[in-house]
Amino acid sequence: MCGIVCYVGSKPAKPILLEGLKQLEYRGYDSSGLAIHDGTHIECHREVGKIAELERKLNNMDIKGSIGIAHTRWATHGEPTEENAHPHRDQDGNVFVIHNGIIENYHSLKKRLEKEGITFRSETDTEVLAHLIGLNFDGSLSEAVRKTMSQVIGTFGIAVIHRQSPGEIVVARRGSPLIIGVSEDGHFAASDVAAMVRYTNKVVHLQDNELATLTVKDFSMSTAQAKPIERSAETVEWRAEDADLNGFPHFMLKEIYEQPETIKNAMRGRLETGEGVPKLGGIMPVWDKLKDSRHMVIVACGTSYYAGCVGRYVFEKLTEIDVEVELASEFRYRKLNFAPNTFVIAISQSGETADTLAAIREAKRKGAGLLGIVNVVGSSISRDTDAGVYNHAGPEIGVASTKIFTSQLTVLNLLAILLGRHQKLSLTEGVEAIRALEALPDQVANVLSQANHIQAIAEKYYKCDNWLYLGRKYNYPIAMEGALKLKEVSYIHAEGYPAGEMKHGPIALINPDMPTVAIAPRDEIYEKMLSNIQEVKSRRGPVIAIATQGDERIREVADDVIEIPQTLSFLNPILAVVPCQLLSYYCASFLNRDIDKPRNLAKSVTVE
Ligand code: F6R
Repeated sequence: MCGIVCYVGSKPAKPILLEGLKQLEYRGYDSSGLAIHDGTHIECHREVGKIAELERKLNNMDIKGSIGIAHTRWATHGEPTEENAHPHRDQDGNVFVIHNGIIENYHSLKKRLEKEGITFRSETDTEVLAHLIGLNFDGSLSEAVRKTMSQVIGTFGIAVIHRQSPGEIVVARRGSPLIIGVSEDGHFAASDVAAMVRYTNKVVHLQDNELATLTVKDFSMSTAQAKPIERSAETVEWRAEDADLNGFPHFMLKEIYEQPETIKNAMRGRLETGEGVPKLGGIMPVWDKLKDSRHMVIVACGTSYYAGCVGRYVFEKLTEIDVEVELASEFRYRKLNFAPNTFVIAISQSGETADTLAAIREAKRKGAGLLGIVNVVGSSISRDTDAGVYNHAGPEIGVASTKIFTSQLTVLNLLAILLGRHQKLSLTEGVEAIRALEALPDQVANVLSQANHIQAIAEKYYKCDNWLYLGRKYNYPIAMEGALKLKEVSYIHAEGYPAGEMKHGPIALINPDMPTVAIAPRDEIYEKMLSNIQEVKSRRGPVIAIATQGDERIREVADDVIEIPQTLSFLNPILAVVPCQLLSYYCASFLNRDIDKPRNLAKSVTVE
């Protein structure tokens, strides 16, 4: 959730670190700080608030040095104050540490260190790392970090500099992502490629219980047990311009508009239209077992979980597989008992969500096969699964997920069509499904062309404090995702409900100040949705309907209609979510919210 960026090279570190922090700001952002080594001294500055505050503080400071570590924090232990911001130092001010993750035994370590005469300056768990590394230092920073790794329990991605080791940064990981960047004039380390993508696209992924020492010329890696590691750099697909707004006022809007392209990218090279069979090379390692599997469990969190909920209906329609969907945070604590040849599919844009990772590790222990649907190449979930499918959607900077969601839905459809063709779908059905998928990018562009109309609807209702989202079957998860999106970026209270449940409670809330977004495309349960809309109208609740183009009946009942093009019913969610995303965006915009960095939220939730 917090962000790490480090640089050791031939250029001044300050601007590179500040730029990196800005790219990471979406991960967590209640305070930030950096420490830069000038060869003799280490200068450290921290500030509460956005990176812009730290930048302002450092504006007129001439900070020399081309080795530094920087951090953006999302508070877990201790309030977001300057004292609690990273970097943290040891007693003598020799060691400076930044840390993502949670040290679970920090309380007992802190007590022990206090007894030994150490005075703590912060309320953080991270500070114990600084003191331990300081005490363990005996001339070799990497050995001091290695020893400290054996003393702490919990998760960490850390970066450390020491006054007496002027040419190096030591980084280590257990459970929190850390990536090394290799460039012509030095080395980077970061929790996320976004922090260094302007300088290099050559990366090496550090794995759990590994550490690395970075110098200007070189880097070396070893395990916590001091076994040397050789791993060559990979080239990442992300481009520097992915991290730019390109004229859009917010990343969220830019990413909503990227969807025709990202849906195409999820399908690129994967469609064999004539055969009606998608090609997914990433699942071939498990194909023999997968094609005969009849049980699957999808695990995920948040928006990715809602993608999984849509996936369940799609698999039910197209395959013979029984699919359950579980929130990873619940699944990981269940008593698991899998039927033979069960596959667990983890869906995660970041590939680093702590609960999802823990869920698949538990599933593996109990004998399930593991698949991942992940956007970040080389991320923990992509490595910990037996096989999988990448989204290839590029970086998503806006905290609220948009383009990755539609990409996840696209990939789930590809997987379901592929398995379905081996289980029950005819050639004609396969071809029809693929043709409908191919039409989606243009259809999404068509929905986007109604942005002004959707903005006008948002203007009409953004002052309403409570919203209801209703949908059935494929679009029930879209009702939940629509409500989540509105909550996240506009802070308006919204509930997503299966429309059939409305009469069992939420109908009591309906009043003229509570808009209902009814997702009601022409599909097999259209008539039922129409009845639910009537029920809302009879209680004088305003209705915004998301309906299929040319649906005149719905215009007679709904106050406002947003049209989506005609498609196969199981593909409607990919079109229907786009107006929901735009409605949330425009409401948040009218309310002057910090759209790309909503309060209290972080992009990648790497703590439980
Ligand atoms: C909401 C959102 C979150 C994430 C959730 C899981 O807009 O982005 O709900 O979907 O935190 O994250 P990933 O997909 O990275 O596992």
